[in-house]
Amino acid sequence: MKDKKILITGASRGLGLAIAKKLSAEYSLILHASKPESFTEEIPNSELLCADLSDPEQTTAFCKQLKKEHGDTLYGVINNAGLTFDNSLIYQPEKHIDTMLNVNLKAPILICKTALKIFSASNRGVIINISSVVAETGNAFQAVYTATKAGLVALSKSLAHEVAALNQEHNIRVLSVSPGFIETAMTDKLSQEHKDKFFSMIPSRRFGKAEDVAETISFLLSDKASYINGTNIHVNGGMV
Ligand SMILES: NC(=O)c1ccc[n+]([C@@H]2O[C@H](COP(=O)([O-])OP(=O)(O)OC[C@H]3O[C@@H](n4cnc5c(N)ncnc54)[C@H](OP(=O)(O)O)[C@@H]3O)[C@@H](O)[C@H]2O)c1
Repeated sequence: MKDKKILITGASRGLGLAIAKKLSAEYSLILHASKPESFTEEIPNSELLCADLSDPEQTTAFCKQLKKEHGDTLYGVINNAGLTFDNSLIYQPEKHIDTMLNVNLKAPILICKTALKIFSASNRGVIINISSVVAETGNAFQAVYTATKAGLVALSKSLAHEVAALNQEHNIRVLSVSPGFIETAMTDKLSQEHKDKFFSMIPSRRFGKAEDVAETISFLLSDKASYINGTNIHVNGGMV
């Protein structure tokens, strides 16, 4: 399946890196991060395509380059890059609001737009948008972050229906995946008090590992998951 190319955004660390490691045995990869220096590990069968997704001009240029250089072979997109600035909305600087909206929501929308143009021509492809458990539960001091993540669930469902409305027969799927509490740099920053609170909400009695999400992504990309479409898959140890 090396003729199938998969774009993974935010692949320099955390979930994106674990997904890249899992998929590199099966697919050719386009790995994204904000800048080339973010990558500290070499992944086989991969090339880099970098852009700061907080800057809409860079996102637009990234999408153009994706279509131009990989338009004939792109098979999958994992919209994984994301960030949060935890704060009360009352005190949240507008700059942080814009950054979260641009990186977590606007960039995935523009990348979906580019990918669907490519997939419409090849009549095949899979998009997986990485949402979060908090899209469903809400979370104090993450109002904007949770709004972006809920947006990705709605975006994925709507696009699955839109693909069907535009094509009688097709092999294109659009999904979202909502990780729970996964041990990465993003969750390392939380206070012990917060970690204990989340831990008490997890029936599986452990925090998730990036590999738990990577295994799920690998399955969802495969033909074994060909009837899973337009839905949101939870990977959270039962946290919801
Ligand atoms: N960890 C969890 O428990 C958890 C739970 C639910 C959902 N999620 C979601 O899963 C995804 C990955 O999370 P993670 O924990 O792996 O995060 P992470 O370790 O902080 O990694 C974030 C990735 O996103 C990239 N990124 C951040 N800001 C960017 C920007 N302005 N432009 C381009 N790329 C940017 C980073 O690239 P650089 O290295 O270049 O900065 C990095 O590769 C996120 O969307 C997050 O919301 C995580």
